[in-house]
This record gives sequence, structure tokens and C-alpha cells, in this order.
Amino acid sequence: MDDKKRLQELDRRFIWHPFTQMKDWQAEDPLIITEGNGCFIRDRDGRWYLDGVSSLWVNIHGHRRRELDEAIKAQIDRISHSTLLGMANAPSIELAGRLAELLRQSGMAGLTKIFYSDNGSTAVEVALKMAFQYWRHRGDSGRNAFVSLNNAYHGDTLGAMSVGGIPIFHDTFRPLLFHTFKAPAPYCYRCELGAEPVHCGMACLEKMDNVLQEHHQEIAAVIVEPLVQAAGGMIIWPEGFLRGVRGLCDRYGLLMIADEVATGFGRTGRMFACEHEAVAPDIICLSKGITGGYLPLAVTVATDNIYNAFLGEFSELKTFFHGHSYTGNPLGCAAAVACLGIFEQEDTTGRLPPKIKLLRERLEGMSSHPHVGDVRNKGLMAGIELVRDKKTKEPYPWERKMGWEVSRYAREKGVLIRPLGNVVVVMPPLSIAEDDLARMLDVIHDGIEAVT
Ligand SMILES: Cc1ncc(COP(=O)(O)O)c(C=O)c1O
Repeated sequence: MDDKKRLQELDRRFIWHPFTQMKDWQAEDPLIITEGNGCFIRDRDGRWYLDGVSSLWVNIHGHRRRELDEAIKAQIDRISHSTLLGMANAPSIELAGRLAELLRQSGMAGLTKIFYSDNGSTAVEVALKMAFQYWRHRGDSGRNAFVSLNNAYHGDTLGAMSVGGIPIFHDTFRPLLFHTFKAPAPYCYRCELGAEPVHCGMACLEKMDNVLQEHHQEIAAVIVEPLVQAAGGMIIWPEGFLRGVRGLCDRYGLLMIADEVATGFGRTGRMFACEHEAVAPDIICLSKGITGGYLPLAVTVATDNIYNAFLGEFSELKTFFHGHSYTGNPLGCAAAVACLGIFEQEDTTGRLPPKIKLLRERLEGMSSHPHVGDVRNKGLMAGIELVRDKKTKEPYPWERKMGWEVSRYAREKGVLIRPLGNVVVVMPPLSIAEDDLARMLDVIHDGIEAVT
């Protein structure tokens, strides 16, 4: 048996893939990736593909970046892991200093206390627990609820799902989840309030105001994905909504949690999405691009005000009782320091505007297609929403897997993308060359033609 067959068989027998119907998977010829270089990854058959999904939205500077490879190798030669429970390590200290400075430069000088974990979901769990316990220490034990948006995605652990709002992912688990007040998402193409965008005066924000007015004394924090509800279908917020959420949190004296797991590290064209509207949350969650897409690492960053509320005598039990085995892992932190170094040396965000312009122009070109209902982007995050009927906005039934059909077509042409239902997602590494981006968009365009 050749090695490819052997691996396929082992995979089929022993691996349960995430977000995957394994019955379909069993029937597929699985893509087994063995190598990467820049924005391309290679499978076992030696075929190269453009990594148009950034290996699930994490890759920033490309694969096999010399600086990242060397930083990790150098750290391996010192130590690969030691715990942050009761001791410190050099890379996590260096990174914390760099992140605090980066947040300061991005207008979030108040965010200085960095709590490490391993992935986006744990960063959110930490934020929720921190916000909840903060109020306990302030002597306010009635704040047991959160506000989140419909269509939100904050991860797959129980707390993160509790503040999520995507029925297909979350409804099964609803009996296990804690109560959260929901507010409408600013999904202008399919406004749940039936309002006409632009002229609506952001009626969805008013609805959030109503929820807060009625329940603010029960609420610990409002959690949002600033500017882009990513997994919800690349929903781009109208200008002012984020500022409006901050304004409401201030008015009712609530904490604001910004989940920038998907939007952080240059994705929206700025280092952080909050920068676009000069908003500083009380807690920010970061992961995905933090290590350039190399290793699992996350941070939850809080203000001094929150941190100080946890200070007390040992016997007061004000300690934040949370931590993971690999919290502050030195390899991940060394990769993250190197990743930030590349941002600085190459001015990664400064080089984005021509790529974003190209993306925008191509999307506009696709918007006249009879089965493209909406195109939207912020920075290098984009969604193309396919519809059965453009006039009525009737979606394709989700079982038809139209997004997947386009992805399948793209894969045959050497481009890897991953849809969100009927939304074709464009999410390449920030380092993608303009001609590769153009080719990716050509393939997507042809795929939409072919499939619809
Ligand atoms: C905004 C947001 N928060 C949290 C998460 C969860 O991150 P992870 O998959 O690393 O747990 C994601 C993942 O896509 C995300 O987009």
C-alpha cells in the first residue's frame, strides 16, 4: 500500500474532523497537506494550492516564514514549555510588553493586563468569567447575564456558545447554555427589523438600548465582534454601530468585551477593528493571527480597573481562578513576538490598501451577477452571498451546499476556500501578492458562474 493510501485509511479510521459530516468525509478523497510555502500549501500528491482560507483565518505572513521558523527553533533550543502558574517565562513577558504597546498605539492605552490562553474560545471564556467576577468584587452580585448579538460567533465552548447566536451551530446545545439577552445584528442586507439601511438611523442599536434600559442591572457586559461578524457570514457593520455600542455601555455603566479573534492583527486593514471607530473596549480577546498562524495562543486583555478589582488578601478569595496547562506557552509567545516583528519591519498593514482596493473592485464586478445577492468586505475579509432569487433575496436552501459547490470548483482550480453556508468567503493571508489575489477572485467568479 502506498503511503498516501495508508494515511487516508488511518485518517478514516481514527480521526473525527471538526465541523465535518463524517459520512461525507468517508466518501471523499481527503486533502492531506504536507508542506507550505508563502501563501501556498502542497498536498501529498505534490499539488500546490493557494491558501485562500489562511488555514482557517490564522495565517498572516505566509507559511514557512524564515523569521517565524527561526524564532520557534531558537526557543526550542532553550525550552519549549514551562507553566505560568506560580512562575514566569521570558517570551510571555516580552510578548505582553509588545502587545500592551501595540494596543496603546491603537488607541487602547487602558488595556494593559494580559491573560494568556490557547485559542479564541478560551479567550472568550476568560473574558466572560473576568467580567462576571469583576462585578462580584465590586459588591454587585446581581449581574449574571450578558448581552450579545444575534448571528454572533464567539467559539464552541459552552460559555462562548451561550453568547453565540447562529442557530445551526448553537440550537442543539441551548439547554446547556446560560441565559443571554440578545440584540439584533446589524445585518443590513437582511435586516431583521425590516428596516431600510441608511435611512433606518440604526434601529438595531435602538433595540439594544431598549434591552439595556430594561435589564442593565442584571448585565455584566456586552460582547461583540467589532465591525465584522465573521463566522455569521462576513456581516459588515454600518459605520457608527461599534461606537454606538461603546456609547451604550458607557451610558449604562457596563463593561464592553471586544472579541477581535477574527478581526485582530490587520485583517480589517488596521491592526485592530476597534481602531476604525476609535473605540476602546474594557476587555479585548485576541487569537488566530497572533502567532502568524503557527501555534495556538490567545490573550484576553483587561483594563487596570478590572485587574485592580481582583487584588486582595489571599483569604478574600478574589483570585481569578482560571488557567490552562499551556497558558503562556513559550513557543507560541516567541512566534507571536516574531510575528509582530514582521508587522513592524514590513509595514504589513501599510501595504494592504492596494490589495483591499483590488478586492473591492473585483467584488463590485461580481455584484451584478444574477445569483450574487450581496458582496461585502472590510479590509481583506470578504463575503459573497449567493441567492436563488436576487429580487426577493430568497436564499438557496442550505442543504444545496452552494457555497461548498463553489469551494469544490475552486479546489479543482488550485484555490482553497471555505464557505459559510451560502456565503463564499475570501480570507487570504495578508501577505498575498496582488496577482495571486486577482487569480483567486477570478477562480471564485468562474466558480459562481459554473455552479449557479
Ligand atoms: C470572533 C471569533 N471568536 C472566537 C472564535 C473561536 O476561536 P477558536 O476557533 O480558536 O476557538 C472565532 C473562530 O472563528 C471567531 O471568529
